[in-house]
Formats: sequence, structure tokens, C-alpha cells
Amino acid sequence: MSLIGKRVLLIIGGGIAAYKALELIREIAKRGGAVRCILTRAGAEFVTPLSVGSLSGEKVFTDLFSLTDEAEMGHIELSRSADIVVVAPATADLMAKMAHGLANDLASTSLLATDKQVLVAPAMNVRMWQHAATQRNLATLQQDGVTVIGPNDGVMACGEYGPGRMAEPSVIADAIETTLGSGSQPLHGRHILVTSGPTHEPIDPVRYIANRSSGKQGHAIAVAAARAGAQVTLVSGPVAIPDPVGVTTVHVETAAEMLAAVERSLPADIAVFCAAVADWRVEAQSVDKLKKTETGPPALALTPNPDILSTIAHRTTDRPALVIGFAAETTHVLDYARSKLDSKGCDLIIANDVGGDSGVMGGDLNTVHLVSKTGVDSWPRLSKAEVAERLVADFAVRLDAGSRK
Ligand SMILES: Cc1cc2nc3c(=O)[nH]c(=O)nc-3n(C[C@H](O)[C@H](O)[C@H](O)COP(=O)(O)O)c2cc1C
Repeated sequence: MSLIGKRVLLIIGGGIAAYKALELIREIAKRGGAVRCILTRAGAEFVTPLSVGSLSGEKVFTDLFSLTDEAEMGHIELSRSADIVVVAPATADLMAKMAHGLANDLASTSLLATDKQVLVAPAMNVRMWQHAATQRNLATLQQDGVTVIGPNDGVMACGEYGPGRMAEPSVIADAIETTLGSGSQPLHGRHILVTSGPTHEPIDPVRYIANRSSGKQGHAIAVAAARAGAQVTLVSGPVAIPDPVGVTTVHVETAAEMLAAVERSLPADIAVFCAAVADWRVEAQSVDKLKKTETGPPALALTPNPDILSTIAHRTTDRPALVIGFAAETTHVLDYARSKLDSKGCDLIIANDVGGDSGVMGGDLNTVHLVSKTGVDSWPRLSKAEVAERLVADFAVRLDAGSRK
């Protein structure tokens, strides 16, 4: 319930994803926020004012030149009375209008007249998204300070594959919370460093060693920390999920690059090492693509990668007050976690079972155990977003307790 007392003006454009705007209204309401909606003429072809009005519990505005609407709530007032303006789905057309300052309907006029932060969630066919005109408009909007969420990669309603799917309503609601800085802010003024995703260790120019980490848990922790008021640096290996809003994301590929990026990001109050870093890399990476030969497969000699968790936990300068590692295990989860806590010199290990049947790697649920010197705290199976929320709340308490010592 972290949007309590917040008012969102939601502009729903005319795209297939308009049905997801209904889910977004419910998500905002679930978090305690109030939503007033503007439906474009095209938007009303996809969802009805009746459904939007029933879910939001408010009158739905559609027409710039409506005498009754203008008398009840002028278009300027409509754009100013909210705490934030969200466009979801943002059509190519709405993005173009915004980028060029057009104001020929209620949605575009309100967007030009607002003095509030604007957040857009684009959704369109992949070719429309990749078109030079849309990309130019996107760059203009970003320069104008508009926050852009997504779009995600995936199969489109039209059958094509690529970027263009609207971000999930829960992700948009998270971004609203982050932007408004709502809820309690126990990490305000703190810098939190999070690593996430896998690393890719090259074998030759086209092949690499990787693992199944999706980055979902690490990214969720970064989002939760930003919502808790922290300044967040996320060092991410190659993942298929978008960069979180309100977080500085540094993209890396290998373990060596990840360590370098982590070291460049210090000092930090808390470092959370959630990334599934490859333990080994190929000793001699081939400059050219390895060829299939009659003599059989090549022997790949492996060499250990730097241990990022241990390196940072053992730093004598700029050691974060809290260094937290993740232990992804398939057997003896707690035993391995306890020995990792000792050997790495960190303050806390978050252990999770990533065995074949667990569905944790790449999935949306996780069961974690917090292993510290004082004991083990085992949590029930939760969504990764919920795990992240609870972990961040726990980290804030530990940081506070540490600084009072
Ligand atoms: C079936 C159908 C689906 C559409 N889906 C999208 C879409 O997903 N994204 C988009 O940018 N435009 C889409 N369009 C085109 C927009 O509806 C059109 O550009 C319209 O003028 C947008 O108006 P608005 O920006 O005022 O909502 C679609 C059109 C049709 C007929």
C-alpha cells in the first residue's frame, strides 16, 4: 500500500495493449493510489469508458471540447491535479505528438500542459518501434525528462517477435512508486550496489560459457532498494529483462568486467552480490572461431574467475558496511551457505535451492534462507518481487543496527 494518497493521471492510447491499462488501474488501486483516466479516441476502440470508469471509480475523460467536462474539470486542471502522469500504452502516435509538442486532443493537450513528471510505457509493433522516426521521438522524450518504461521483447499480437510489448502493469506501478518516492524510505541517502544476471565467458568470438540466471531476483532487489529511497547502482550481466527505472544500470559481460564495474561503483553502504558469476573462464580465448576438425573436439582449459564477493568483503578500504552474497545450490543448501559465509568474509548469505525442479532459475518465485553468524531465517515461497521487498527491509534494519554499534 505504498501509493496511499497519490493521484495518477493515466492516459490510455489506442493500441492492443490498452487492455493491460485496466490491470494497471487495479494495480495502482491495490497499492492505495487513486487513478483518473483520459482515454484517447483510438483508445476507446480497444477498451470502453465504462470498464475504465468502473475500475477507476472516477469519471473518464475523452473529449477536449466537451462542455460538461470542461466545466467540471478544465483540461489544465486535469493535467495538474495529479501527482504523476502515466501514458500506458503509449502509441507511436502519442509519442510523436509529445515529442513535437502537438496538442490537438485532450491527451496531447494535457501532456503539454502538465507540470508533473511524465512516465510512458510504449507498446507497438516491432517495426513501428524500430522505425527511425519513433526512435528519434524516443530520444527527444528522454531529453525532455520523460521516463520511459520498456517496451519488452516478446511475441507481438501481430505474430512478429521483438521489442514492442508493453511493460507489465506491476513494473509500471513499481516505476510510479520509485518516481514518486512513496512509501517509507528507510534507505534514503544510502548507496546500494547490486549485481544481477549471469556472466558470459567467451570461448571464441561466437561461443561462450553461461548459466540460466535471468536477473529477475537481482533486478527486483535493485527496484525495491530504489523504492526504499536508495541511490542504486545495478551491475548487470547479459539479461533479457529491461533496465529498472530510477536505477543506474551498468552492463557487463564477463566476471572480470563485473568486478571492475563493482570496484568503480564503490563506495557503497550495502553491496548485494546476486549475480550468478561463472566460476571459471576459458584460459586461452580463441581469436578466431574454433573449427570442427577430424581430430575431435578441442580441449578447453579453464581458469578460475575473480571471486567478486570475497574480493569486496575483504577490502580494507571502502568495504561496504553490509556485504551480502547469494548462494545458489542444488544440494546441502544450508551447509554450503554456512561455509560460504565463513570463507567469503561476508555479513549475510541468501541461500536458495536452484535444483532442476525448483523453477527458481528464470522463474518468478523463490524460497530463500538468510544465513548469518547468528542463525538461519527461512522464508516461505514468495514472488521474487516480494523476496526483494522483504530483503531490502531486512538490509535496512541490519545497516541501522550496524551503524548504532
Ligand atoms: C487493431 C489495431 C491495433 C493497433 N495497435 C497499435 C499499437 O499497439 N501501438 C500503436 O502505436 N498503434 C497501434 N495502432 C494504431 C493506433 O491506433 C493509431 O495510430 C491511432 O491513431 C493512435 O491514436 P492515439 O495515439 O490517440 O491513441 C493500432 C491500430 C489498430 C487498428
